[in-house]
Amino acid sequence: MNEPRRVERQQTDKGYVPVYTTAIIEQPADYPAADHATWGTLYERQRELLVGRASDEFLQAQDAMGMSPDRIPRFSELNQILSETTGWTIIGVEGLLPELDFFEHLANRRFPVSWWIRRPDQIDYIAEPDLFHDLFGHVPLLMNPVFADYMQAYGAGGVKAHAIDPQALVHLTRLYWYTVEFGLINTPQGLRIYGAGIVSSKGESLYSLEDDAPNRIGFDLERIMRTRYRIDTYQKTYFVIDSFDQLMQATAPDFTPIYARLHAQDAIPAGAVHADDHVFHRGSGQGWATDGDV
Ligand code: PHE
Ligand code: CO
Repeated sequence: MNEPRRVERQQTDKGYVPVYTTAIIEQPADYPAADHATWGTLYERQRELLVGRASDEFLQAQDAMGMSPDRIPRFSELNQILSETTGWTIIGVEGLLPELDFFEHLANRRFPVSWWIRRPDQIDYIAEPDLFHDLFGHVPLLMNPVFADYMQAYGAGGVKAHAIDPQALVHLTRLYWYTVEFGLINTPQGLRIYGAGIVSSKGESLYSLEDDAPNRIGFDLERIMRTRYRIDTYQKTYFVIDSFDQLMQATAPDFTPIYARLHAQDAIPAGAVHADDHVFHRGSGQGWATDGDV
């Protein structure tokens, strides 16, 4: 078989643009020692940081999957336990997928994982999802039955929104962003992280929970669907769920009438706080970029 490609964004005269790929690939038989070392460094650093910061469901699932800092996990080994537990499997990909391909995989309980890991100079930040973000950040919660169902429902909802109009997809994508990627959860011990974009980042793990700057606001479906977000800085606002059951129940209704209603409403800037928000913490806004919300 040919070596899979490592598809990253490319520099063009319009700046960096994402490149999409649809191939499903076999995980390479082995990785260079330097790649295993990158995995080990990131794994140990995040695990230490996340005890008492990530949700217990996340940490327990990660242990149960048998991930370790010793080497990059084999997809086939993770798939054994994952498919037995919730029926999900992970598939290897070369990089970002087109939206509809991504939704269809999720709707069929397949989670796409980039086969390649970041270079040492990208340890603290990488613009696109690499193996560390995908495996360490996303895959553990697929062991949780409720979250596993949420991800499948999101995929099916994506296929549906794709057939409605581009604006429906914008609204649905914001939900993914503020839950799956950047979600916080309230527990008796305090706020905890469950979003993959946070748990795979040292800086944002600290910032999202402990910094004075960002807002922390209670989950509200339509509020989230109207809220712009940041792709190149830490978030200005994090949304807090009470439980995965709450997330599942709030997103169970048919979104078609919600998309129609939202059409007529303005988007909310990433850092705004509204009078009827349930505010856990009102951010100081210190250090925020003044433009660039997506
Ligand atoms: N209920 C949503 C719909 O009808 C589907 C969905 C479920 C979307 C869970 C996101 C998360 O479109
Ligand atoms: Co991600």
